[in-house]
Amino acid sequence: MGKLVAVVGVVVSLPVLAVASLYLVGWSSSATALCFSTVASVVTLLLYAATSELDNFSLASDLLRLRRVYTPEFQRMELKNYTADDVQSYYTHTTNRDYRLLRKFVGEGHHTRLSTIFSDDSHFRTSYQSLVVYAECLSKPVQRVLEVGCGRGRCSLLLGQMLRTTSFVGVDNVELQISAARDAAYACAADNVSFEVCDATRLGKMRLHQEIEPFDMIFGVESLCHMDTETKAAAFMEQAASLLSPGGRLVIIDGFRSSTFDTCSDEQRMAMLLAESGFRINAMPAMQQWVLLAKKNGLRCVRNLTFTDEALPFWELGWRISRPLLLFPGLLRLVSMLSVECRETVSTLLSVSTVAHAMRNGAAAEYGYLVFERQNL
Ligand SMILES: C[S@@+](CC[C@H](N)C(=O)[O-])C[C@H]1O[C@@H](n2cnc3c(N)ncnc32)[C@H](O)[C@@H]1O
Repeated sequence: MGKLVAVVGVVVSLPVLAVASLYLVGWSSSATALCFSTVASVVTLLLYAATSELDNFSLASDLLRLRRVYTPEFQRMELKNYTADDVQSYYTHTTNRDYRLLRKFVGEGHHTRLSTIFSDDSHFRTSYQSLVVYAECLSKPVQRVLEVGCGRGRCSLLLGQMLRTTSFVGVDNVELQISAARDAAYACAADNVSFEVCDATRLGKMRLHQEIEPFDMIFGVESLCHMDTETKAAAFMEQAASLLSPGGRLVIIDGFRSSTFDTCSDEQRMAMLLAESGFRINAMPAMQQWVLLAKKNGLRCVRNLTFTDEALPFWELGWRISRPLLLFPGLLRLVSMLSVECRETVSTLLSVSTVAHAMRNGAAAEYGYLVFERQNL
């Protein structure tokens, strides 16, 4: 259906374009004709994006086009080996510009927008993740909270304002993120929130933690997907468990590989591999993997919820917006070669255009949250 409308759009708009161009060239200037044809082309592309269907057919054609741009990635897909340097380069070079762009589409904040009860308020929809953590903080008093992979610190700063007597520490392994978070803390005079550069797998080395009490809560929002090998996930879980007070909780809000990842269609699995690659992730942990690791470290799972259906419309919108760009794989390749920033931005586009395919029917990816509690010994 989508394809049909697009073809009709092109068929109708081209003759109109040609006639109008001739008319305009004759009676006005060629610049006007150029403007007119540009507008007509944009309208056609928008029509194409708006009427596309998220299904096996569009997945197959998207993969075909992506393969032309990402030939090396496709070749290396099964043996991805992204390092901490790749992740740091990605977040260092995409942070400011891409986040500004994302803000235009999803409003303030840059989390997966959830189509939940706040259906008409984009601020709450992008802050829903912070509100989940806030609710967890209220359900049991917390004095000290650690955020892992805090990025520019928005969650901790928001929570710090809502819970003035709780102290928050945010850590991230990208210096640019931490300096942006510190600037934001300074701007809002947040005296109960501090930030520090630290890797999630080496939390014991935190400077701010030295010789002080354990944390009542540790949380990560869309960051622990970067614990993308068994070794990293195990190291993080071990460190987190050792830093929690008895009864303390670990909250993970994120995208995960689905339990059906290994058995879903080859195409959907490929969509997930590409989505991970775009974010420089080797293999996102599955929810069950976290549950097993937590158990091994004396943490009990107290909540396990999925929001995949609520997250899908956001990623579907991303897919729709990026789809016209996929029509020009050569142009994308050219742009990605312009600079490291352009390369990382095109990389984001890769993820944005494939997450929805992976998440469809929860087949290869899911979105949700897990809460673990350290058992009183
Ligand atoms: C998608 S951003 C989310 C940022 C933040 N949690 C938020 O909600 O705004 C993921 C963050 O995880 C950080 N990250 C990735 N790997 C990490 C690691 N090994 N240790 C600490 N932070 C990491 C990245 O630098 C990035 O800032």
